[in-house]
Amino acid sequence: MKYKKAQAYYADFNTIEVNRLPIRSYFIPFTTKKGALGSDIKNKRYDSDKVVCLNGIWDFAYYDNPNDLLDTFDTDTMKWDKLDVPSCWQFNGYGNPMYLNARYPFRFNPPKIPTTEPVTKYFSYETWFTHAKEGEYNHLGVYRTFFNAREDKRYIISFLGVCSCIEVYLNGEFIGYSEESHMTSEFDLTNHIKPEANELVCIVHRWCNGSYLECQDMFRNNGIFRDVLLKVEDKVDIWDIDFKYKKAKDGKYTATILVELSGNGKEEIEVSLTGHGIEKNIIGTPVDGKISVEFKDLDVIEWNAEKPTLYDLMVSIPNSYVYTKVGFKNIKIDDAIYYLNNKKIKIRGVNHHDTSPVNGYTMTLDEIEQDLKLCKEYNVNTIRTSHYQPDPYLLELASEIGLYIVDECDLEAHGCRTQSFLFNFNYLSKKRSWMSHYVNRMERHYGRDKLLKTPIIMWSLGNESGDGCNTMAMYEWIKKRSDIPVQYEGAVYNRTKAYDIASQMYPSVADITLVGERKSKTKQFNDRPYWLCEYAHAMGTGPGNLEGYMDVFYKYDNIMGGCIWEMVDHAVLHEDGSYTYGGDHGEWIHDSNFCCDGLFYPNRMPSTGAYIMKHAYRPLRLELASEREIRIFNTLSFTSGKEFRIDFEINGKEFSLIPDVKPLRKKIFEIDLGEIGDKDCFLNAKIYEIKTNRLVDEAQLILSEEIRLKPKKMPLPEEFKLVDGNPVIEFKDSKINTSIPYSILFRAGTDNDKERFYFKTMPKWYDEKEKITETFIGKEKCVVKTIVTANKNTFEVEDTYLGLENGVFVTSIIKPISVSGFLPRFGKAFKLDSSFDDVTYYGRDKESYIDMVDHSKIALCHSKVLDMVENNIKPQESGNRMDTRYAELSNGKVTYRFEAVSEAFNLGIKPYSDLELTKMLHRKDEVRSGTYITISKFQMGIGTGSCGPSTLKEHSYYADREYKLQFIISWSENKDK
Ligand code: GAL
Repeated sequence: MKYKKAQAYYADFNTIEVNRLPIRSYFIPFTTKKGALGSDIKNKRYDSDKVVCLNGIWDFAYYDNPNDLLDTFDTDTMKWDKLDVPSCWQFNGYGNPMYLNARYPFRFNPPKIPTTEPVTKYFSYETWFTHAKEGEYNHLGVYRTFFNAREDKRYIISFLGVCSCIEVYLNGEFIGYSEESHMTSEFDLTNHIKPEANELVCIVHRWCNGSYLECQDMFRNNGIFRDVLLKVEDKVDIWDIDFKYKKAKDGKYTATILVELSGNGKEEIEVSLTGHGIEKNIIGTPVDGKISVEFKDLDVIEWNAEKPTLYDLMVSIPNSYVYTKVGFKNIKIDDAIYYLNNKKIKIRGVNHHDTSPVNGYTMTLDEIEQDLKLCKEYNVNTIRTSHYQPDPYLLELASEIGLYIVDECDLEAHGCRTQSFLFNFNYLSKKRSWMSHYVNRMERHYGRDKLLKTPIIMWSLGNESGDGCNTMAMYEWIKKRSDIPVQYEGAVYNRTKAYDIASQMYPSVADITLVGERKSKTKQFNDRPYWLCEYAHAMGTGPGNLEGYMDVFYKYDNIMGGCIWEMVDHAVLHEDGSYTYGGDHGEWIHDSNFCCDGLFYPNRMPSTGAYIMKHAYRPLRLELASEREIRIFNTLSFTSGKEFRIDFEINGKEFSLIPDVKPLRKKIFEIDLGEIGDKDCFLNAKIYEIKTNRLVDEAQLILSEEIRLKPKKMPLPEEFKLVDGNPVIEFKDSKINTSIPYSILFRAGTDNDKERFYFKTMPKWYDEKEKITETFIGKEKCVVKTIVTANKNTFEVEDTYLGLENGVFVTSIIKPISVSGFLPRFGKAFKLDSSFDDVTYYGRDKESYIDMVDHSKIALCHSKVLDMVENNIKPQESGNRMDTRYAELSNGKVTYRFEAVSEAFNLGIKPYSDLELTKMLHRKDEVRSGTYITISKFQMGIGTGSCGPSTLKEHSYYADREYKLQFIISWSENKDK
């Protein structure tokens, strides 16, 4: 069939849509009541007899060079490939994945975008003038599928997500055009439909003018990436539904349901609201196709994320039934405190992007469900839908399982800051000519989600688009329609005041403490509820110091909490199981592994960050109040502590407690701890939610701690030698050497080892050199003195080896000679061959550093060497175990043991040396070269310097001090083998 290409709407600034139907609430009608009630929120769009899901394998033709698609094209003679719909081109071999954070992938010249010319010179403050590689164009993809339409109905096609824009054609005719990637676009196909084999053709452009408003930090994918639904409607049908409500002073609610029929219908409309003792039903006749139905004096159970009570709303006309669940909630802001249903709430949140390692933006509803269930499992109560609307299913599921939502509009103009003259972040937000584009996005945001607003606790205007009259116009628009407060981080620093909740990203704990005290220099933070739309950047090893934030969140009522950045790493999975990130796909500009910043790996396996979060977001917080008392803080707002059971264990003795603590209260419980003594004594607690038997937290309270060894002096054992000043212990056919460097002062830089976002601090230490200055070799004792230089610092290290009954007592003292700043680590590194694979240690059971330790407990642990490091997509320092009392490495025949003397140590066990690790970029670079053991006096904390505060001073160690590390090395033969 022949088609004439539509005019270049995608590059026409004055056109954001052609023949697109007005936005309406997301809902799925059925022809019968039974059908509507018989489906569920996940399956209804696939089950409905009024909807045909057009997902499947479509014909696809990809044009690298858009000029290759002629103005008139013939679908009968075109060469077609096959492509799954929904999907993203770049994840299916069309173009390459491209990861960019804050830049446009084209020259900044709004509203102009590349059309038919190649992308050439490209300016940004990050890379100045970069040439795009050859063949970079505003690529386009042509899609085709066929469907039948045998009934005499109205056919509306509904695209739930297409990037960047879509031209729709049917049976040789142009139907319409739409932009805004994450928003539903609907078109009426009826006038061009035929009973059989309708040819639906869509053209998707890589970029449109709207791309200036979609500069989000993510892989920049394209395609029809969400479900395509063909709605088979009656000539008169339910067009739109809104559900509004108000709470009166007496606590009763009035619900108003607004229904609009298409075709100016006069059919009687039945509306019912039922559940939890409410039975309301009204049949009414619309006027001009509209009706507003009111149910008064409703005595409802309000919805909250802890107890998500929903009511059944059914709206019907004789041949169309829409069943949806709705909740009631009441939001009030008083004296800068946010109240939900008259209770203070804390946001324990995450930022959620749509990301799949095999499908880019495309997530199945099962995958969305998996993410939301993970949130519940990890004690998250809020999702910010960064930085666009999610599939509507996410909102419906959140209202059912209980998660608060900060619903964000599809808006980010970040490239204005990185590419405009003089970093003008506000460039587009201030340009009046863009106002209709901004407001249109807000109208559609609200329009689609208004019926699904139950879990929404804030509207968000968007992300990082600066601020100006356009964001203000969005704010004013939504304020006229909704009582739900608005957050927009970009507005906070400007004068527009386009926000109800003050919002910030990545401030320090010290800064938000000032806000808590209402003494922030940024006055706007003090007079409204305040929250962190992003904090605790979870890139690589980390995030450090999450507990610091939690302390402040709980201390101050005006601080609502925040959403960790972000839930899941973005990366591309390959058949061999490897992952790639920015720069690995031939990108001419990219932001490297900045996309690997999630609490969960792309396959949704938890990283340590997820465990840190789970513990930090725990519902019940336990602390010792006195020797025989614990204080329990119930951090929930609507749930009694009685809904949990705590199973305690101390010195082998077990007992349980049902902690009757009211929401948001603390209470002291007396407990029988038995004999504590003066040795290591820990009270271990496992907290279960009784209803689900879910383990919500594991906590450990340290009652007493003592590491005391009384080594008996002997001559140095025969197996001990000094080779070139380094200790070597030879035992039978195995030996333990030192690694390089032996006195280790650095770590392989983590992503968070950055200062002010840019300066990598750790590599400067990699030049470490150690030179022996003095050696004393005696029968019972050897002493080696060295000078260690690194990062322009000079230290003296004195190592003493003393003979013991069955081992060697090592004392290493480091003294500053000429130093400045902080010392990342002080440890001793050893090497065994890789047959030593069995690890037993008594220390923290999870990866832990001084500022990320509370999620772990001291326990006896068994592990293999490979499991002692984390699977960060970009290898880096990981796997430290704090508070280690002893560690044993065995190859089945021989066991080497490192034992603390008076103070526990930090244990590092890796299959490669720390120096080798510094050179690795991907997991495939990991080559096992031995078994490496590092016994450290300390290692600095992790912080969140990749995009936030670097390691705090209190989690760092001054270089100008003397430090002493002591441990015993012993060895034994395994008699059984
Ligand atoms: C924020 C931004 C996020 C993400 C994050 C860093 O500034 O809003 O989209 O880029 O930084 O990972």
